[in-house]
Order: sequence, then C-alpha cells, then structure tokens
Amino acid sequence: MTKEQSTDAGGIRVRGLSKQYGRVKALDNVDLDVRAGDVFALLGPNGAGKTTLLHILCTILRPDRADEVTVAGHDAIRHSLRAREAIGVVFQEPSLDDRLTLRENLEFHGMVYEVPRSLRRRRMDELLELVDLVERRDDLVRKLSSGMKRRLEIARALLHDPRILFLDEPTVGLDAQSRERIWRYLEELRASRDLTIVVTTHYIDEVKGCDQVCIIDHGRILAEGTPDDLRGRFGTETVRVTPTDIAAAEAIRETYPTATSGRGDTLLIPITDAAMKAEFLRRCGIHVRDLAFETPSLESVFLSLTGHDIRDSEADARDVTLAFGRQGGELTR
Ligand SMILES: Nc1ncnc2c1ncn2[C@@H]1O[C@H](COP(=O)(O)OP(=O)(O)O)[C@@H](O)[C@H]1O
Ligand SMILES: [Mg+2]
Repeated sequence: MTKEQSTDAGGIRVRGLSKQYGRVKALDNVDLDVRAGDVFALLGPNGAGKTTLLHILCTILRPDRADEVTVAGHDAIRHSLRAREAIGVVFQEPSLDDRLTLRENLEFHGMVYEVPRSLRRRRMDELLELVDLVERRDDLVRKLSSGMKRRLEIARALLHDPRILFLDEPTVGLDAQSRERIWRYLEELRASRDLTIVVTTHYIDEVKGCDQVCIIDHGRILAEGTPDDLRGRFGTETVRVTPTDIAAAEAIRETYPTATSGRGDTLLIPITDAAMKAEFLRRCGIHVRDLAFETPSLESVFLSLTGHDIRDSEADARDVTLAFGRQGGELTR
C-alpha cells in the first residue's frame, strides 16, 4: 500500500508504535495500515492489546514511542484534536447516560461536537432510523436492552459525521440476534457512506466478511490481509472426525497430539501434508464413525500464527456460549 492510500482523509497509518504498562508490553513496535472505506478488523484474544491500540488511535492514550500515528490525515499525537474531530468511537465499556433519553444522549453529544442545531436534529432522526430506534427516542436509556444500547452508541458515534468509526468489541455480551444486527448495520454503513470502520473482536466468525483482518497477539501484529489471503497463506486443512466412543477419541488424541475438540463430540486434526490423509485413515480409521476434510479456516490461521486457540485466554465463559450460538454450530473449538 502506498503512503497516500493510508494517510488520506479516511485512512490510518501507524509505524513503530509501542506502549508498556509497567512490565507488560501492551503494544510492541506495531505497524498498521488501514485503507479508506474498508471494514478493518483487529482480531485477537483478551489481553492482546486491541483496546490499547484503539485508545491510542482515538487520541485518548499516548504511546511511549511511535514514529508515526496518522489518523484520518492528521498526526494523532501532535494534532490530536483535529484527529478526534474526524473519528467516532464506540468504546468497549458502556458510556451512555442511563438517566437521559435516547434523544438527550444524542443531543448532548452533538453539542459537545458543536454540530449546528438543525443539522443535529436531522442527523439524529436519520441515525435513529438506521439503528431501528426511532420509536424509542423519548425513552430513558436505562430501559433499553444491551443490544439497543450498543445500537444507540453507534448512532451517537456517527452524529458528527466522522470519516472513521472505531468500535471496540461491539458485540461482546450480546445475544446471537443482536450481534448479527450490529454487523448488519455496519454493512449498511459501509455501503451507504464514505466511512472507514475499524472494529476489534475476539470472535473469529465475525471477521469473515471484513475487507482486511489484522491478527494481534501479545501486543504484536502477526499478519494482515483479506480473510482469503490469510487462509491461503497461513491456513491448514483439517480433518473433522466423530470418534466411535470415548476410548477411540483418546486413541486418536494419543496418535495426533495436535487434535483439538470441535463442536459436539468431534475432533479436529490439522493436515500438514497430502500423505497425512491416507496415513490418518490407516492409523485411526477404525476409531471413527464419521469424517470430513475441511478447507483452511480462519481458526486454523489463528492457531498456526499464535500457537494457541483464540479462546484459550478467554476470561468470559459466557462469551464462548454466545459465539457458539451465533455460529449455529459451525464454530470449531
Ligand atoms: N491501564 C492498564 N494498566 C496496566 N495494564 C494494563 C492496562 N490496560 C491494559 N493493560 C494490560 O495490557 C495488555 C493489553 O490490554 P488491552 O489493550 O486491554 O487488550 P485487549 O483489548 O486486546 O483485551 C493486557 O496484558 C492488559 O492486562
Ligand atoms: Mg479490549
């Protein structure tokens, strides 16, 4: 990517960015390019450094070191106010005022950003429409479900018409339907506006439709590309098997220590070379009730890049359940 592409009004360019908390290296020499108009996903487990990176891009946190942090065409460190005007943010932690109505929350935000009154009103109506909350506009925010609150936060982040929208784990803690809905709005926004969307997540299934995916772990960027590109470069084919019984499952695990648990009582074994397929059938065929060879998944990309499953560091067990729910049983563990 050329410098022009990522430093123009809707892009991001980061070089040599580091941030440490005590002895924890939250970000270690990070380079990043986000192209204007893309839906860009920052994928990593809890503690990877996603929020830290987002906070620096949003100018609310200063890096220890950086050769360049350009956000929407502005130097985010030296001209943080200018950068801030060009971005909208949905933070990981809820940030609405529960005691105000939906409209009052938006109104307040519009005033802070000095959006002229008539424009403010028009955009408020438009955005409430976009996130399907028009009917609720005079309700107190505390009466909304968590999914509705998230939607309102998206509307609020767009009220001053930013070039870049940042969302930090916008779907965490939401039910499957609400998660899908949030992604639908993001899709609509991408189609209808001149907007760059940067979203962090630890749900692999959510990044499949994004333009660019950047994998981050322990503060380091491990790979960046389109989902297909990443699958092609780092993915491995797997065989998914249903063992005949528990003893058979144990026998397979013993023969293939790299086997991981899949949905239901299936096991997933990475296929590292073509000869391995036949070898697997010869060695473990009798232990298997059902079997399917699967093309490289983003899960396998993550595993081969980081050496661990994205949910190994999962703190919130509830999230795992939700991730399975949304996937409709397709997610591999
Ligand atoms: N304010 C802080 N003080 C100390 N350590 C922090 C602070 N914020 C984050 N960390 C640590 O920095 C690392 C990255 O955290 P974070 O950016 O929140 O990751 P993520 O958003 O990917 O979960 C983690 O090890 C976390 O514990
Ligand atoms: Mg975070």
